[in-house]
Amino acid sequence: MAELLLEMKNISKSFPGVKVLDGVELRLERGEVLALMGENGAGKSTLMKILGGIYSKDQGTITVKGQQLEQMTTATAAKMGIAIIHQELNLIPHLSIMENMFLGREFTIGKTKWINWRLMRKEAQKYLDQLGIQLDPATLVGELSVGQQQMIEIAKALSMQADILVLDEPTAALTNREIESLFEVIHSLREKGVGMIYISHRMEEIFQICDRITVLRDGQFVGTKRTSETSMDEIVRMMVGREITERFPKIEVQLGAERLRLEGVSRTGKLHQISFSVRGGEILGIAGLMGAGRTELARVLFGADPIDQGRIFIDGQEVRIKKPRDAIRAGIALVTEDRKEEGLVLSQTIRENLALPNLGRLSAGGFLQFGKEKSLTEEMIRSLLIKAHSGEQTVGSLSGGNQQKVVIGKWLATRPKILILDEPTRGVDIGAKKEIYDLMNRLVKEGVAIIMISSEMPEVLGMSDRILVMHEGRITGEFSREEATQEKIMHAAAGGGNSYAS
Ligand SMILES: Nc1ncnc2c1ncn2[C@@H]1O[C@H](COP(=O)(O)OP(=O)(O)OP(=O)(O)O)[C@@H](O)[C@H]1O
Ligand SMILES: [Mg+2]
Repeated sequence: MAELLLEMKNISKSFPGVKVLDGVELRLERGEVLALMGENGAGKSTLMKILGGIYSKDQGTITVKGQQLEQMTTATAAKMGIAIIHQELNLIPHLSIMENMFLGREFTIGKTKWINWRLMRKEAQKYLDQLGIQLDPATLVGELSVGQQQMIEIAKALSMQADILVLDEPTAALTNREIESLFEVIHSLREKGVGMIYISHRMEEIFQICDRITVLRDGQFVGTKRTSETSMDEIVRMMVGREITERFPKIEVQLGAERLRLEGVSRTGKLHQISFSVRGGEILGIAGLMGAGRTELARVLFGADPIDQGRIFIDGQEVRIKKPRDAIRAGIALVTEDRKEEGLVLSQTIRENLALPNLGRLSAGGFLQFGKEKSLTEEMIRSLLIKAHSGEQTVGSLSGGNQQKVVIGKWLATRPKILILDEPTRGVDIGAKKEIYDLMNRLVKEGVAIIMISSEMPEVLGMSDRILVMHEGRITGEFSREEATQEKIMHAAAGGGNSYAS
């Protein structure tokens, strides 16, 4: 039997008023990848923060390489070879990649305090190369995409030479190519005897790279299974405590009149001659690779970026959308892919976040009406099944998936005619995904037109009435629900062959 690297036993933890972990256990062997699974709010990140010494446990024992540790601190964790890549990124934007990587352990020249930049650059380069990241180590982190920042976090963890490595939803913002190089790194680390704890909501990934799976539900330990001896269905059942029969509950809706039409919309260098329309009751999926211009399209429709050319019509009337306010007034809502950057104010409560784009509707005579705000909050918590103690909880203390639901709730409350969802289920667990799909069904039934940008192929195929594919700012494919296949979409997304006409 392989050496036991880590054992966490009977771990419990409460935050004021709630018990979030209750008698949880976890064992990690040398050279294995252990998946930690559970619905949003199950306690996965909290357990890992206890391991990293960020939160203290109320109860239980942690044994690392045979040594039982009373209370974990961040310093002990680092000393014991534990590195954690947290779900929320922790890099400093105005520092360079290499400065971030070696923060607090900079290389100095001899015994002086002078930083040895050459060595630091060389070391940083080594880890970037290992991950196949083509970036200059002197680049400021603030200039990187979320996916690139995620890769830098991984490079940083590698540079710490940890033998216990935790990856909390590392792939949520990565491109397929980045995911592949990450998986290669995971394989080679496993060969070297590193033990890894891998958190993800993507079932296919888990079954591809993990040896065993530990499942939590509502802060409780449900069980651990060998991947080779279980099935996705069994794991889902363990996570949610019930059967989820249909992953994509798409319903048939009678399509209404045209809601939105674009004619030759262009933005220099980003979007070229985009023309399409969406009808009430329709779900239009937009597929494409990262950087294909999908988010840019969402931004111009929402007035976050100007267009240079082209016309936009809503309900047959030409509209000019210069700023987000114009878009909201015209009945457009946008759920952004980057909830931390644009979607939410983490230090504010659920109620305050929900109120933000709805100030008009929630005020009377220029005053915000607390009663209306409160009932809106309660309605959203109830209908979206947001897991929170109350509407007064700060959004920053919610689990990742529940934060995503608050972003959606905030825009639903504006009662949009056209709802743009950019990666709506990223980081969202299987049960909550289904709730978001059910919600989309409810909206289209009411005549809302939905534009759903997504990189998850099963979701695009499962929920769209029609699919547009983008490549380098152009539409390179259009498929009806019936004719769409993964292969056709990938082909168009790679820019190859125009299937538009066929
Ligand atoms: N600092 C905090 N204060 C109060 N409650 C908290 C705090 N941090 C986490 N919680 C609560 O603990 C519970 C578990 O959260 P945790 O982030 O561990 O979930 P998770 O399993 O990582 O979920 P996800 O898949 O959405 O990331 C949630 O209900 C959350 O609201
Ligand atoms: Mg989490």
